[in-house]
Amino acid sequence: MNTTFKDKIARAPKTELHIHIEGSLEPGLIFALAQRNGVTLPYASVDALHAAYAFTDLQSFLDIYYAGASVLLTEEDFYEMTAAYVERALEDHVVHTELFFDPQTHTARGVSIETVVDGIERALDDAEGRGLSSRLILCFLRHLSEDDALATFDAALPLFKRYPHRLIGVGLDSSELGHPPSKFARVFDKARAMGLKLVAHAGEEGPPAYVYEALDVLKVDRIDHGVRSIEDAALVERLARERMPLTVCPLSNLKLRVFDDLKQHTLKRLLDAGAAVTINSDDPAYFGGYVNDNFFATVDALGLSDADVHAVLRNGFEAAFVGAAQRDAMIARLDAYWHAA
Ligand code: HPA
Ligand code: ZN
Repeated sequence: MNTTFKDKIARAPKTELHIHIEGSLEPGLIFALAQRNGVTLPYASVDALHAAYAFTDLQSFLDIYYAGASVLLTEEDFYEMTAAYVERALEDHVVHTELFFDPQTHTARGVSIETVVDGIERALDDAEGRGLSSRLILCFLRHLSEDDALATFDAALPLFKRYPHRLIGVGLDSSELGHPPSKFARVFDKARAMGLKLVAHAGEEGPPAYVYEALDVLKVDRIDHGVRSIEDAALVERLARERMPLTVCPLSNLKLRVFDDLKQHTLKRLLDAGAAVTINSDDPAYFGGYVNDNFFATVDALGLSDADVHAVLRNGFEAAFVGAAQRDAMIARLDAYWHAA
């Protein structure tokens, strides 16, 4: 990729629709918070922690990701973590972001869900004044029971009321294999009845059947990852026909060995088939890059054209959970930038 194209991508207004806020926690901040909170980590130093980031699959990552999140105790901790992500997002010209958070990772350690959401919300509210709009999506951990998810949802009800402008949906993350979307049918029914937006990780490590379940049982508005959909031609055709957004995270897929080489990534084939593909960072502190790094690596590996990148950026705005006026304004801003640059 030449430097002109790289700069055009870097400075383009963009969305980020698949970022786990706990996955933005950099090793330096993990150690600083551990020290402040008196939490003992099973790693001697920042370098030792970083050296452990040699993942073989999703589970090998999740084990370290949950250890990293164990340093988060106070509202200020959640604020600082989110404020640090806001800085990186602004550097990458993200103008709208939708963050996932995992309340069960924290409530299991005795941290209240209010502490978690109040801290994240305070940083996102500050970011509004700096040109970054945002939404927050509560994710259920799929390796836990649906009863645990239902209890978490009930505990979060006051927060959906307190922050209706921000906390607008629910999602499903953590260990995919063996935990199909249908396991969470009842809690997604409750969320849908409340008018919340619905997303689910599906087809990251799991088969196309899990993508069908996310669509047909959970009735999601977006699929997170979805890269294994390519194995089922009828599914790809349906995703394209329904313009079902896929929040793809190329460096995550590379680091978790969904693909051995980025050149094997299915993003370009999905895009060419008409799927509404977007590019996102997933867990940027763990996977070697924020959203712009994901764009650069993907463009290099798959040879995406100017028109491909524009389509991906546009898909992000179309898939965002915002009102029509904000969507139209953001797309107009992207198009004006793209055609002038
Ligand atoms: N997949 C599933 N669960 C997750 C991920 C992911 O990529 N990141 C954080 N939790
Ligand atoms: Zn994810």
